[in-house]
Amino acid sequence: MLTTNHNLLFKAIVLALCVISFVHVFLFPLYDLGASKANLKTYQDFEQSLCISNLRHQRVLKKSACPQYGIVTIVQGGRLGNQMWEYASVWALARRTGLEPYVPRCIRAKLDQIFESLSVPTFEEISHCTVPLSKFVRSSEAWNSTNQSIILPRYSIQPELVLTWVQDIIQEFSFKKKFSDKSQQILMQAAKNSTREHVFVGVHVRRTDYIGYLRRKHSVDAANASFYRLAMNYFEEKYIYVMFVMVSDDPTWCAKNFAWKKNLYITNQHHKNSPALDLAVLGACNHSIIDYGTFGEWGALLAGGETIFYNLTHHSTNKLGQILHNWHTI
Ligand SMILES: *[C@@H]1O[C@H](CO)[C@@H](O)[C@H](O)[C@H]1NC(C)=O
Ligand SMILES: *[C@@H]1O[C@H](CO)[C@@H](O)[C@H](O)[C@H]1NC(C)=O
Ligand SMILES: *[C@@H]1O[C@H](CO)[C@@H](O)[C@H](O)[C@H]1NC(C)=O
Ligand SMILES: *[C@@H]1O[C@H](CO)[C@@H](O)[C@H](O)[C@H]1NC(C)=O
Ligand SMILES: *[C@@H]1O[C@H](CO)[C@@H](O)[C@H](O)[C@H]1NC(C)=O
Ligand SMILES: *[C@@H]1O[C@H](CO)[C@@H](O)[C@H](O)[C@H]1NC(C)=O
Repeated sequence: MLTTNHNLLFKAIVLALCVISFVHVFLFPLYDLGASKANLKTYQDFEQSLCISNLRHQRVLKKSACPQYGIVTIVQGGRLGNQMWEYASVWALARRTGLEPYVPRCIRAKLDQIFESLSVPTFEEISHCTVPLSKFVRSSEAWNSTNQSIILPRYSIQPELVLTWVQDIIQEFSFKKKFSDKSQQILMQAAKNSTREHVFVGVHVRRTDYIGYLRRKHSVDAANASFYRLAMNYFEEKYIYVMFVMVSDDPTWCAKNFAWKKNLYITNQHHKNSPALDLAVLGACNHSIIDYGTFGEWGALLAGGETIFYNLTHHSTNKLGQILHNWHTI
């Protein structure tokens, strides 16, 4: 009896030890990892979570003090036009709230290839700091204390806020010299080296995938050729020497509809320029005709002149048109 009991007890102890060591070996590391992720996330991990693709590991050369109050940042999404709005939204919201702005490295790296002197830093210098995840809100409306941080969703635009300081944001997006030089060359080429003082009107024609997007999302048709024609008439009645510089994702469509026009130059027709150069060309013009979309919006904003846009209710371009006095439809 005694030995059997002993035996059973022994087996029970061995079993218990096995269970404990199983838990220890297999579950503890997971727990550990979970705990450090949830409570001790640093801005280095956090920055990665805001980006679409993987960031390369970066050696941090300079560490600064961790933020005492909340910060403003944003999630990356979309292409150049969207990411310019994302950057500008962080920039403007920080200005309004007094919080420190940070953009993830993925957005900054994209824009740094194009613009000369962006002022909003990445998380590099605070990458060692702990992120107070519980103190994040997702919009300026939900924000009510300087201790709270704001993390804006991807594709944020914030037109009222950004356009409060429209001249400053144009300054912020100053092109690198290689783009401004090249865009001036393209305008010269458009004007066939004429020394006459031309008024340059950038025309952005967005087609391809956007046509389907407008139908699905807004249940409307894309602008047809008569929209661009009417808008061009407007500028031709206003100025004597007008040169239209057309930038499009579908130069073939443009050529089919507008190649007959003597004072119109279609870029991208023979070889494709980068989106950055296309934007610089639009920005170098004096006035603008745009249909819709964030890329055309920035082209017109950077040109800073009179802008004719296509009237689409509930589209961000309409929103900008309501705010800016020199933007209108026809
Ligand atoms: C501030 O906002 C948070 C959530 O965003 C809310 O829980 C809290 O009650 C608000 N505080 C005040 C003083 O409004
Ligand atoms: C902000 O946080 C600090 C310390 O964490 C606290 O002392 C202070 O009262 C907080 N301020 C507000 C407005 O919540
Ligand atoms: C304009 O001038 C440049 C050099 O200044 C020349 O390379 C180019 O061919 C000229 N273009 C036209 C259309 O005359
Ligand atoms: C072009 O679109 C306008 C609406 O913006 C419409 O009134 C007009 O009939 C269209 N023209 C053609 C030729 O489809
Ligand atoms: C129009 O744009 C051209 C090209 O960027 C520039 O050289 C010219 O100064 C502008 N004209 C006015 C009146 O701003
Ligand atoms: C834009 O179109 C809507 C109807 O589609 C119209 O009510 C509005 O007046 C138009 N806006 C402008 C500025 O033409």
